[in-house]
Amino acid sequence: MRVLGIESSCDETAAAIVSDKKELLSSVVFSQAEHEIFGGVVPEIAARAHLQQIGSIVQAALDRAGIGFKDLDAVAASAGPGLIGGVIVGVMTAKAIAAVHNLPFIAVNHLEAHALTVRLIQEVPFPYLLLLTSGGHCQILIAEGIGKFKRLGATVDDAAGEAFDKAAKMMGLGYPGGPKIEQYALSGNPDRFDLPRPMIGKPGCDLSFSGLKTAVRHIIESFSPDGTIEHACLSEQDKADLCACFQKAVLDSLCSRLKNGIKLFKKQYPAGTHMVVAGGVAANAALRQALENSAKKYKLIFAAAPMKLCTDNGAMVAWTGMEHLLAGLSDPLDFSPRPRWPLDPSAKR
Ligand code: KG4
Ligand code: ZN
Repeated sequence: MRVLGIESSCDETAAAIVSDKKELLSSVVFSQAEHEIFGGVVPEIAARAHLQQIGSIVQAALDRAGIGFKDLDAVAASAGPGLIGGVIVGVMTAKAIAAVHNLPFIAVNHLEAHALTVRLIQEVPFPYLLLLTSGGHCQILIAEGIGKFKRLGATVDDAAGEAFDKAAKMMGLGYPGGPKIEQYALSGNPDRFDLPRPMIGKPGCDLSFSGLKTAVRHIIESFSPDGTIEHACLSEQDKADLCACFQKAVLDSLCSRLKNGIKLFKKQYPAGTHMVVAGGVAANAALRQALENSAKKYKLIFAAAPMKLCTDNGAMVAWTGMEHLLAGLSDPLDFSPRPRWPLDPSAKR
C-alpha cells in the first residue's frame, strides 16, 4: 500500500510517499525563503507561496517515486494545528485528489505526525515517553496509541523552537534560529553568561522559556552604548558565547523537566521501553546527545527520527496517514481544517 502525505501548516510546502513496508519512496520539501528578512513566518505570504508550489511539489513526489495517482491507496494532509491559510491549501489539495481518484482522505494532526515519524524508521512500540518540541509547541506526553496521547506537561509561554527563533532574531542571526544558534554555539563558551533555568526543581513537567528570552535580551542590551537592542554591538565571539549559553539553558530545562516525565511514565507504564524526541528542535545534535544520556541513566531506549525528518516534511504526514489507514481509519471529505488541535483533548492549553 502507498500513501501520499502533504504538509503545508507552516513555511514548508512538502509532499512524500511511503509504503506499508516502511519504504520512503519519495520526499520533496520546499522551504519558503520569503520569511527570512522578517525574522519569522508571515502567514499571508506563507499561504500564497503554498498555493503557488503545491501542485508541482505533489507531482515531483509522484515522479520521484515513479508512480501515478492510480497507484496510491490514500492521501493524507496536515489538517492542523497550524497557520490556517496554509493548512487549507494542503487539505483542499488532498481532498481534491481523493475525490477525483476515489481514494480515502486522512486528516492528519501535525503534532501526531511529528510524534509518529520515528516509527517509520525503527520499531518503537506504544506506549512511549515523548518530548515534542517544535516552533509552535513544546510538550511532554505519553504516546499510548494512534490518536491516543496523554499530556504530562507543556510550556506555559513560548515553545522552545520559538525561543531559539526569537533569541537568534535579537542577535541578528536570521530565521530559522535553531540551526543558526546551534552552529554558533559550537565555537562558544557555555559558561560565560549567567542565564536562568525556569521551572527547574519544581514538580511536574510544565516548561517556560519567556524568562530566558528576556534574560538574553538584557545581555544583548548590555553591549549597547545607549542600552537599546538596536545599537548593541556584539562581536562574533560574543554571539557564539551567548548562543552556547542560551542553548545550554534550553537543554538543561528540557532535560530536567523530562526527568520528571520519565518518573511519571515509569510509574504508569513500568514495562515502557522508549523515550522519543520529535519536532524541529529535535534536529539539534546537542539536545539529542543530552537526551540520549538521560534515557540511558533511566534504562530507557532513546529514539529520534533522522534530523531531516524532524523539521516539517511530507514523510511524517504520509506515514501517519499510513498508520491510520492500517488501523482502518479515514476521514470524511467535509472534515474542517483546525488551526488549533490539541493532541490530548483533555489538556487545557
Ligand atoms: O517542527 P518544525 O519544523 O515546525 C513547527 O511545527 O513548528 O520546527 C521548527 C522549529 C523552529 O523554531 C526552528 O528554529 C527549530 O525548529 N529548529 C531547531 C533546529 N532546527 C530547527 N532548534 C534548535 N536546533 C536545531 N538544529
Ligand atoms: Zn512541525
